[in-house]
Amino acid sequence: MRPRKLRNLNTRRNNCESLRIPYEIPSFDLRNINDTRNYFDFEEIFGNSNPVYLEIGCGKGTFATEYAKRNPDINIIGVECVKDVLVQACEKTMEQGVSNIRYLEMKAEYLPIFIKEKSIGRIFLNFSTPYPKKSHAKHRLTSPDFLSVYKKLLSDGGVIEQKTDSKILFESSLENLSQNGFILQNIFLDLHNSDFEGNIVTEYESKFVEQGLPIYRLEAKLK
Ligand SMILES: C[S@@+](CC[C@H](N)C(=O)[O-])C[C@H]1O[C@@H](n2cnc3c(N)ncnc32)[C@H](O)[C@@H]1O
Repeated sequence: MRPRKLRNLNTRRNNCESLRIPYEIPSFDLRNINDTRNYFDFEEIFGNSNPVYLEIGCGKGTFATEYAKRNPDINIIGVECVKDVLVQACEKTMEQGVSNIRYLEMKAEYLPIFIKEKSIGRIFLNFSTPYPKKSHAKHRLTSPDFLSVYKKLLSDGGVIEQKTDSKILFESSLENLSQNGFILQNIFLDLHNSDFEGNIVTEYESKFVEQGLPIYRLEAKLK
């Protein structure tokens, strides 16, 4: 069943304009990827030069908002391609008055057009759509094509953190990351029955934990 459309989407979207980073896709020309004029100026956006982290597929923003509150010296950008969902993330952030967070209404595929190489310290992939069928594996956010995007964006020693309930996605992530220039560390096969401290539970995570499913977690550091 398709999710119901949000009521007053346009009004609600306009009300949280200040939290969305504006952009225009220049043209569908791959040469634009190397046009530095399209790059976001993070110092201007956040008013400081603190490290910038991304959450890709941030959903309704529970993780990003809480992470920003706990880490005021980090700037975090939530990337989400579904408008209705992103509006709810922005509203959550506004209600909680958090200033070190912005949102990008964008598909992750376009990030290298707008984000300068080596300017991101950490990327969070929380409960990304698992695409369990082998024939859809290229859409997984840890497919080799996406990893080459992250390798461009991450600064030296940058880290990807992933959490998922999907064994198929987790196993393919372990394989792709280790074969594409990342060192795996801090791997958990049942996060909620482990000694890991400081976990921020996302919207999807709370549903899966209620169902008694194990949560997998990994960190992958750029070599
Ligand atoms: C299963 S939800 C998880 C949401 C949230 N991270 C959580 O843990 O509750 C996955 C989200 O990723 C978004 N998403 C999927 N592919 C994406 C892409 N290529 N670029 C940006 N967002 C994407 C979807 O729209 C969806 O909101």
